[in-house]
Amino acid sequence: MFKKVLEYTGAYRKTTYGSAALMFLGLIANVLPFFLAYQIIKPLLIKESLAWQTSLWLVAGIALCGVLHAVLYIKGLDLSHKSAYNTLKNLRISLQGKLESQPLGTIQTKGSGALKKLFVDDIDEIELLLAHALPEGLANLAVPILIYAGMFVVDWKLALLSLCALPLGITCMAVMYGIGMKEMKKWYAAGKKMNDTIVEYVNGMEVVKIFGRDGDSYRRFEEDVRAYRDLTLAWYKACWPWMALYTSILPCVALFTLPLGTLFVLNGFSSLPDLVLILCMAFSVGPLFLKALTFMSTIPQINHKIGELEKTLNSEPLAQNDGSFTGKDHSIEFEDVCFAYEEAEVLHGVSLKAAEGCLVAFVGESGSGKSTLAKLLVHFYDVSSGSIRIGGQDVRDMSLEALNDEISFVAQEQFLFNITLLENIRLGRPGATDAEVLAAAEKAQCGEFLERLEQGISTLAGDGGKQLSGGERQRISLARAILKDAPIIVLDEATAFMDPENEEKMNDAIAELIVDKTVIVIAHRLPSIIDADLIAVLDKGNLAAAGRHAELLSGCATYQKLWQAAESSTAWSVSVKGEAD
Ligand SMILES: Nc1ncnc2c1ncn2[C@@H]1O[C@H](COP(=O)(O)OP(=O)(O)OP(=O)(O)O)[C@@H](O)[C@H]1O
Ligand SMILES: [Mg+2]
Repeated sequence: MFKKVLEYTGAYRKTTYGSAALMFLGLIANVLPFFLAYQIIKPLLIKESLAWQTSLWLVAGIALCGVLHAVLYIKGLDLSHKSAYNTLKNLRISLQGKLESQPLGTIQTKGSGALKKLFVDDIDEIELLLAHALPEGLANLAVPILIYAGMFVVDWKLALLSLCALPLGITCMAVMYGIGMKEMKKWYAAGKKMNDTIVEYVNGMEVVKIFGRDGDSYRRFEEDVRAYRDLTLAWYKACWPWMALYTSILPCVALFTLPLGTLFVLNGFSSLPDLVLILCMAFSVGPLFLKALTFMSTIPQINHKIGELEKTLNSEPLAQNDGSFTGKDHSIEFEDVCFAYEEAEVLHGVSLKAAEGCLVAFVGESGSGKSTLAKLLVHFYDVSSGSIRIGGQDVRDMSLEALNDEISFVAQEQFLFNITLLENIRLGRPGATDAEVLAAAEKAQCGEFLERLEQGISTLAGDGGKQLSGGERQRISLARAILKDAPIIVLDEATAFMDPENEEKMNDAIAELIVDKTVIVIAHRLPSIIDADLIAVLDKGNLAAAGRHAELLSGCATYQKLWQAAESSTAWSVSVKGEAD
């Protein structure tokens, strides 16, 4: 595990080693006073005199050791934290890179709570390992080992007595580890579930309130919080007695040395000064040893979390390479595309060709797979089988960045970052000037609502863009696409939230945007797409037919049904309007 974590330290590996060395020296300075004190005690034991100047030097040495210990240890901690926090930064960045290269499904299945836990809490735990357990723990282990070696040089019989407490303490510790590891998975899973529930509870607050489900939702929340508490307490309850035992036994290295050592001295097996020296050494070792072992008790937890982190870091990324876009034009071809989000397949062998510069409309009932097909084109997911090509080049044979440069996607669900609306639009083309952003916003009919906002385009979008209405979010997204001006445009229900007046203006903006582009439009309102070059009718994940409006109206039953439904809904809205008049 240490090896794995050290791999993440990268350029800071040497800093970690340096911090361990400084802490080691700091600890030597910490135990040295015991030897110096012994030098003062020894003459008393063997009834020799000690010059007062020597005593003074020894006392000064003890004080100096104290200062040295503080300076070296603090510097060691400083270095270890520098290395640890830089490693955490590297880990978070590589985790973000990994997630970005994975299919959206993988990310959504994990859940935002679990991902937040991974990004924030679990990675934070590695700080304990890098800043403390590794340098501090190792130094606290190395110094006692050195002292034990010294003890054997002084008097091997007394040294052996000091070692007697170790097997007992280590056995208690091993039992604790065994229990800890057994319960770890359950405890970790409960933590993950609690995180997910809390995030879901906060995100779904709106629904909870509308449907008056505070009780239900709170109950689930409370259950998970309780389950986490119960598991944590059960875990501690099982571990604590053993922890109490080993923390009491291990520092008592004098447990056997004092009584049995006295017998040895009385019987002439060992000398009194040696016994006193061994006791001094033993007392200096205890606290260090305990500290080292305390760090070790956290290792099963950290180990498990690193395992979880590795799973994410090593999970299968989207099929893509570093290739640039080399398609001969911007025609789009879906060839026998099958796709399943999870188990159930939602697209069953869809084949469709759209020539460069043409306007293609995807129509079909709700859930027929229109958005899924669009998301596959922008490579949010990998197809299960078949292929999608742009200008003859498979989307898997180019990098996501290269693909992104060719496509503007206005998704059905809009997400805005909590930065200003200006910056949200600028995401479409990061190099754009403020004037260009404002012009795009104007074209996307944002002007009217931006005027109403106190800070205009400099207003923050709120968490996920929640400060804006659905229609307003849609217009910001469209402004992004206008600014980006990519050769392929995908509009998924881009005007779904618009009122008729704004829709007309927005359609004008779209009409301007799509000139000379290859466009895919997904629309529920069929009248808006009757002039499309190609209408693809989707039915339960199958392509029922593809053609122009007139052809489909005479030859495709699914389209006829959709058209009738569209006409009757128009009639319905007119009659409702008529009644109101
Ligand atoms: N993230 C997801 N995970 C699992 N299943 C999904 C996911 N998104 C969509 N589906 C399922 O895939 C099928 C196609 O969904 P899709 O969103 O493509 O439909 P759609 O034609 O765009 O519908 P709508 O007109 O309502 O937007 C549906 O059965 C839907 O339940
Ligand atoms: Mg959809």
